Amino acid sequence: MTASPITPGRDIPPGGIQVVVMAAGKGTRMKSTLPKVLHTLAGRPLLQHVLDTAADLQARNAVVITGHGATEVEAACAGFTRAAGHFDMQFARQEPQLGTGHAVQQAVPLLDDAGVVVVLSGDVPLTQADTLYHLLKMSNSQHMALLTLEMPDPTGYGRIVRGSDGTVQAIVEHKDASEEQRAITEIYSGIMAVPAKLLKGWLARLDNHNAQQEYYLTDIVKFAVLDGVRVLAHKIDDPVQVAGVNSPVQLAELERAYQLQQARRLMEDGVRLADPARFDVRGTLQCARDVRIDVNCVFEGDVNLGEGVSIGANCVIANAIIEAGAVIHPFTHIDGEKLGVRVGVGALIGPFARLRPGAQLGAEVHIGNFVEVKNSTLAKGAKANHLAYLGDATVGERVNYGAGSITANYDGANKHRTVIEDDVHVGSNCVLVAPVTIGAGGTVGGGSTITKSTEPGTLSVARGKQVAIANWKRPQKAPKA
Ligand code: UD1
Ligand code: CA
Repeated sequence: MTASPITPGRDIPPGGIQVVVMAAGKGTRMKSTLPKVLHTLAGRPLLQHVLDTAADLQARNAVVITGHGATEVEAACAGFTRAAGHFDMQFARQEPQLGTGHAVQQAVPLLDDAGVVVVLSGDVPLTQADTLYHLLKMSNSQHMALLTLEMPDPTGYGRIVRGSDGTVQAIVEHKDASEEQRAITEIYSGIMAVPAKLLKGWLARLDNHNAQQEYYLTDIVKFAVLDGVRVLAHKIDDPVQVAGVNSPVQLAELERAYQLQQARRLMEDGVRLADPARFDVRGTLQCARDVRIDVNCVFEGDVNLGEGVSIGANCVIANAIIEAGAVIHPFTHIDGEKLGVRVGVGALIGPFARLRPGAQLGAEVHIGNFVEVKNSTLAKGAKANHLAYLGDATVGERVNYGAGSITANYDGANKHRTVIEDDVHVGSNCVLVAPVTIGAGGTVGGGSTITKSTEPGTLSVARGKQVAIANWKRPQKAPKA
């Protein structure tokens, strides 16, 4: 059930691997305007999972069969950078959709005769490359290899019909199967590996004389048997690898299965997850030793957690590097997007903090509740503990930035930088109107609006002077008539 690590280059047949991905179906049960194969699992479209697996497999080309939502699906594929970097991705339109055999027929002009074709479905996202390597090995460039599974309830699936000697004779679709055949619990997963030249010959012989009047890809098994080509079955016991997504419920079930796999892998590497069932990685998460993650955290993009990092409950962290010993308290939101976020060694962040793209926090920085940091550098030991905004700022060592203070970095057209030099104290409720520099060791009095740079070591106060009017009478409501 668990895969062994993939050895690059192993089991690649002479002539290479060509992949056909069927993705023309409608996905009616998703009840969505988005094409089914573009719905996401762990933050990646289903079809991207399949094409990434094809990349793991070192396929030399991939033909995606599109139909429903073809334009949208094809446009989305352009953004699948990993797959696009590995092979030549081509598309064949299937309109109308007359069955899986008809689907693969559309790819024929784009397939050459060399090597082996692996047929995959765009809505089956979690097949492991190792499983496919095993199929290729079985096919050995001359046989047909089918991925099969025992199902307690095989209703709806194609049944693997074996002869008295146990060899595979046919796949019979549920709707065409006899009572006796319906009792078979070994089902076809929808995934096969077939020598390209043989596949092309057999596809040309398909007809639609069956219960659904469809061109069944599965009928090629009969042709293989007739032609004396061996049909082998690789029976696996992990339903997740062959599970297709037809409905939001199935999508959520597979999402959980996938997240649990990731959680287990991390825990095996020593990461302490409070609850593997309440943990989501939608991208990559790398953890050093002794990382602890509390419940309900979501990691997106590329996140790297250093040794001893602790993540509190309910944090969302994307595209960030959190260095050793940093503590991220609950309900913190970090999103580095393209610029990234870095949290330095031993920093304390949150609860309820927000770090945005370009936040670069040095060692032992403290960012407290309701503090937002964007495109700003904070040097070692700087602190902004309550209700504050730092945008486009360069903050020196040991700066203390008071509650309610903000950098006014945007004049309505352009953004300007604020420089706060080492050892500055900014009082509460200050507005630092950029561009402006607060000189080292300086102090800004609470409530100041600072529009001019200040000299090192000075106290700057820029607010209305306090006045006192004795015996002040507050206005009163006029008496009712
Ligand atoms: C197919 C198999 C069945 C197997 C099952 C596993 C056939 C005839 N049957 O069933 O033996 O047990 O998969 O799930 O192959 N598609 C197209 N164009 C079409 C029809 C389908 O691109 O004209 C795509 C669908 O979008 C989907 C995939 O092919 O991604 C499989 O189609 P689906 O209808 O789910 O499979 P079945 O025909 O029910
Ligand atoms: Ca069907």
